[in-house]
Amino acid sequence: MPSSLDAYLGSYAGTDPQRVAVADTLRQLAGAAVKVRNTIIQGGSGENLGASREAANAGGDIQKELDVVADRVFLEAARASSIAFYGSEEQDEAVALKADGLLAIAIDPLDGSSNIETNVSIGTIFSILPVDAEHRSNPASVFLQPGSRQLGAGFFIYGPQLLLVMSVGNGTHVFSFSPSFGGFVELRSSLSIAEKASEFAINASNYRHWDPAIRLYIDDCLAGAEGPRERDFNMRWIASMVADAYRIFVRGGIFLYPGDGRKGYAKGRLRLVYEANPIAYCVEQAGGGATDGLNRILDIVPDGLHARTPLVFGSKREVERVGRYVTDPAAIGERSPLFGKRSLFRA
Ligand code: AHG
Ligand code: MN
Ligand code: MN
Repeated sequence: MPSSLDAYLGSYAGTDPQRVAVADTLRQLAGAAVKVRNTIIQGGSGENLGASREAANAGGDIQKELDVVADRVFLEAARASSIAFYGSEEQDEAVALKADGLLAIAIDPLDGSSNIETNVSIGTIFSILPVDAEHRSNPASVFLQPGSRQLGAGFFIYGPQLLLVMSVGNGTHVFSFSPSFGGFVELRSSLSIAEKASEFAINASNYRHWDPAIRLYIDDCLAGAEGPRERDFNMRWIASMVADAYRIFVRGGIFLYPGDGRKGYAKGRLRLVYEANPIAYCVEQAGGGATDGLNRILDIVPDGLHARTPLVFGSKREVERVGRYVTDPAAIGERSPLFGKRSLFRA
């Protein structure tokens, strides 16, 4: 008999006040995700959820109708929890909620906005942080904590199934929404990301803008069995990170959104506090790796709620390999045409 999310959270929390607050927050978020899912399912009959609005969000992206609806629904869920501060991709500044709230939440209410009108999986990504005394006097500082301080994190996927992938620091678990049960039930417990990757995910249309190390890494994957890797790789790019991430949890692989030469993309596209940190937390809890190409994501001290970071995550060995391409360009330059013989680049 699979355990329900509610029962799982109850046994995790016990009577510890901070854990009880985290568990309550997760229950509220789960309720909000069901509301967003219902809105998506009913979409088309009512407002056009994929319609672009006039406004841009803090990151400069044009907001879509569903970005705003999801932000409103999750803000309500935060208000109903022990949340002192709500930091969202769709709000310029952190929103102060309960003065005595124990926690802060950073959220990407709708991930994969470009996929809304195409009926491709989209999601919500969240990060739960502690609130210390010093944060109350300087609220902006609460979201400047490194990801290693997260108390819990995860993401919902609005896809063929409504899934919750989450961790509260004891492995990464997957719950699916069961309409007949009226709640979330455990689908997979203690995920473990395969160490070896045979699939990569990157937006290859940006190839010409990448640094040489990233180009070379992808070149070597593309060269397949005839190249230095001596085996073939498959490629996937859904453009909803939640969906690309879940595939990697299920069957291994690597995801890259590097910095590139386009204006405003020196640190890539993804946001550290509410995209990279929660994904990195779940990835590490499942035995995978997450870096900015070189440095562990969870160690980076954000310089703002909307800070960007290059992001590489997935199968641990593969993420480490990207780090070697970045740090050892000399070895990369030397390897041709002997590459097949060099152990550094062998699978
Ligand atoms: P968001 O919809 O919250 O702006 O995030 C979209 C992100 C991520 O989900 C995806 O991997 C990436 O942006 C897609 O970027 P490209 O359109 O550059 O491929
Ligand atoms: Mn996003
Ligand atoms: Mn978003």
